[in-house]
Amino acid sequence: MNEEHPTETDVATSETGEPLATESHDPAVPAAYAAFMRTGWGERELDVPRHPITEHAARRRAALAAAFPGERLVLPAGTFKVRANDTDYRFRPDTAHTYFSGNQTSDAVLVIDDGEAVLYARPRSERDTDEFFRDRQYGELWAGRRPSGREISDSLGIEVRHVQDLPSFDDDRKTRDITTDEDLARVADELRLVKDEWEVAELQEACDITTLGFEDSVREWDRVLEHGERWIEGTFFRRARAMGNDIGYDSIVGGGAHATTLHWIDNTGPITPGELVLLDMGVEGRNLYTADVTRTLPVDGRFTPVQRDLYDLVHAAQQAGIDAVRPGVPFLAAHNAAMEILAHGLADLGLLPVSAQEALDPESKVYARWTLHGTSHMLGMDVHDCGRSSVDIYPKGDLAEGMVLTVEPGLYFQEDDLLVPEELRGIGIRIEDDILVTADGSQNLSAALPRTSAEVEEWMGRLRG
Ligand code: GLY
Ligand code: MN
Repeated sequence: MNEEHPTETDVATSETGEPLATESHDPAVPAAYAAFMRTGWGERELDVPRHPITEHAARRRAALAAAFPGERLVLPAGTFKVRANDTDYRFRPDTAHTYFSGNQTSDAVLVIDDGEAVLYARPRSERDTDEFFRDRQYGELWAGRRPSGREISDSLGIEVRHVQDLPSFDDDRKTRDITTDEDLARVADELRLVKDEWEVAELQEACDITTLGFEDSVREWDRVLEHGERWIEGTFFRRARAMGNDIGYDSIVGGGAHATTLHWIDNTGPITPGELVLLDMGVEGRNLYTADVTRTLPVDGRFTPVQRDLYDLVHAAQQAGIDAVRPGVPFLAAHNAAMEILAHGLADLGLLPVSAQEALDPESKVYARWTLHGTSHMLGMDVHDCGRSSVDIYPKGDLAEGMVLTVEPGLYFQEDDLLVPEELRGIGIRIEDDILVTADGSQNLSAALPRTSAEVEEWMGRLRG
C-alpha cells in the first residue's frame, strides 16, 4: 500500500553498500521502527568445529598455486540466480571455489596470492544496519543466519576478510580469474580428476543415499502407477534433501517411450504396466559430491522376453565396460568395450545395414543410431566433472587410480524408427554405475543397486512386497 511508504529511514543500503534487496510490496520502515530493531540483541557467535575438508583444501590450494608461481588466482563462489522477479534459486556455490576453499556461502571470493590464501566472504548481517531485517537476499531474518567471518575461518582453517575489502587488483601483478581465465579453469579441473580418500568416501555416501532413493521409489510403486513419473521424481528428491544437499542434476524419469529421450527431465508422463521405466537419478551430498546412477525397471516387476533380451544385451555391454576400467588404459576403453558388445548385438538383431565390424569403424559408427551417447564421463562434485580439462588428458588420456567415472551404455529405439521391428519401437534401456579406478582394477560405488535382469526382478518383488 502506498501510504505505508513515505517515511523511509536514512540507511537503506546493505552492509556492502548496495541498495537493500527490498520489494515494492514490502511494508514501510519508519525511523522509529528501524532504530528499535537495531537494539536489544545478544551476541551470538558460535564455536564451530574444523571441517574435515580443511587439510585437503590446503593441499589443493598449494598444488594450484604451484602451477601458477608468483601469480594471483581468483576463484569466486558466485551469487544468487534469479528465478523470477525477487525470487532466487537456492544458492549452490561454484565447484572449483568450494573444492579449493571448502566454503559454501554465497558471494565469497577465494584469492590465492603467490601461494597465500585469503577468503573474502560475505558474513552474517550485523545489527547496526537495516540489512538483517530488511534484505531479502542476505538479511538474517529473511534468508537465515550466515556464518561470521570468525566462524568461517575456524571451520575452514583459512584467513577470512570481509568481501567489501576485496581489492580491485589493478596493480601490475598477473591476476587470473577462473570465470574468465581458461588456463586457470583447465588446471583446476585437471587437479580435480584424481579423487583423494575423503572425496571417495563422499562419493560412496552419495551413492548409498541414491540407493535409498531408488528403493523409496520402488516401495511406493502403487503411488507411482497412480501419479506416474512425477511421483518417482518427488520421492527421490525427498531422500536427496533429507540425507544429502540436493539432487546432483535434474532426475530423468522416462516411462515407456520417454526412455528414448536421453535427458527426459519433464517427468510428466504416466508409468504404464507392461512397459519399462528408465530412472537416471543421483543424490548430491552435503559436501557437494554427486552420484549418477541409472536403472531401467519393468513396470510389472517382470521383464517380457523382448525386454529381457535387450536388457541383458545392455547389461553385457555395461559389464564389458566396467571390466575394461583400470589404471593405465585409455579413458575411452570402457566405451569401446561396451560399443563392441552393442554393435554385435544390434547385428545379431538384424538391424545393422553393414557388419558389426564395419559399423564399429570410426568412419562409420552406424550402430550409434541406437546407442546415441558416450559411455562414460568423469564424476565428482559435478555430475559431468572436470569438463574443462585439456582434451589430451580427458577424454583422450588414460585412467589413473583415484579417478571416478560412470559406465552407462544404453539402447534406444525411437517410436518412429521405421528401421526396427515394431515390437522394439519406444524401448529405451540404460544401466549406469559409478566406478572408482583402484590400484589394480575398479570398484563399483553403486553396486548396492541390482544390475542383472534377475536381480532387478527379485529386488522389485521384495520392495513392492
Ligand atoms: N545423468 C545424466 C548424464 O550423465 O548425462
Ligand atoms: Mn551419467
